Amino acid sequence: MRNDIDRVVLVGTGAVGCSFAYAMLNQGVAEELVLIDINEARAEGEAMDLNHGIPFAPSPTKIWKGTYADCKEADIVVITAGAPQKPGETRLDLVEKNAMIFKKMIGEIMDSGFDGIFVIASNPVDILTYVTWKFSGLPKERVIGSGTILDTARLRYMLSDYLDVDARNIHAYIMGEHGDTEFPVWSHASIGAQTLEKFMDAHEQYNKKELENIFVNVRDAAYHIIERKGATYYGIGMGLLRLVKAILQNENSILTVAAYLDGEYNHKDVFIGVPAVVNRNGIREIVELNLSTEEQAKMDHSIKVLKETMAPVLD
Ligand code: LAC
Repeated sequence: MRNDIDRVVLVGTGAVGCSFAYAMLNQGVAEELVLIDINEARAEGEAMDLNHGIPFAPSPTKIWKGTYADCKEADIVVITAGAPQKPGETRLDLVEKNAMIFKKMIGEIMDSGFDGIFVIASNPVDILTYVTWKFSGLPKERVIGSGTILDTARLRYMLSDYLDVDARNIHAYIMGEHGDTEFPVWSHASIGAQTLEKFMDAHEQYNKKELENIFVNVRDAAYHIIERKGATYYGIGMGLLRLVKAILQNENSILTVAAYLDGEYNHKDVFIGVPAVVNRNGIREIVELNLSTEEQAKMDHSIKVLKETMAPVLD
């Protein structure tokens, strides 16, 4: 890491990685972006193609196809590498093959002398973020998974569409596993400074029963997209950009990312989607909401599923 130049290394130049890279270039977030992929020709071609867009970008970003040695001076290493979900596959189904890839990859990155922040997007992201933390030896604050950052964005988009309110004025979180056991935190949802419940009560055309349909569409969104176009990548690419921007610009923004619980929400030793304050040092703190009994039970279940799935791959 160097104080004057922000370097981000991207490991994995598939559709998710390159959607993130394209967003990085268009928003001029870092001075340097290094692309690494097992398919070196692919990484080189992506770097060449992105570089040709620089004259259209708000500020120049030096982009090149690199190696793990480039991680030494990186502020952030973003990992999107790994097998993606296929139609009908859950994210948890990917755990064994991707955990094996991660164990080798994290070792090679750490051998470079990397001492920055990991941002993990590969699925199952909560478990692979834990694997990254365990095998990197970095402090928990500097290992962050994309978690439910995209799920929360999907919820805000769908509520915005239903309520006809700008998504930026909709404050509602998805917490838990980035997967089938995630849950909405309706008890703390607000529209501007008004609770969601009061906002909906004030408009006869809104029906609270619709909220369950909206949540189901959020939870199953990836399956619906994968059925139609084979993969998801723009939403998560922009979510990763949002997280990297909050780190590099020292924003202290609250984002629902996969962060390490060390007693928060009555649990320890697990990475899972929670609201957290994100800045240049990584996770500043986890925001502990006073969940309803039902929400806490969903959190407990989500953590149970993650820990049971994770156990065999940590041996
Ligand atoms: C999705 C992938 C990122 O939810 O898991 O689209």
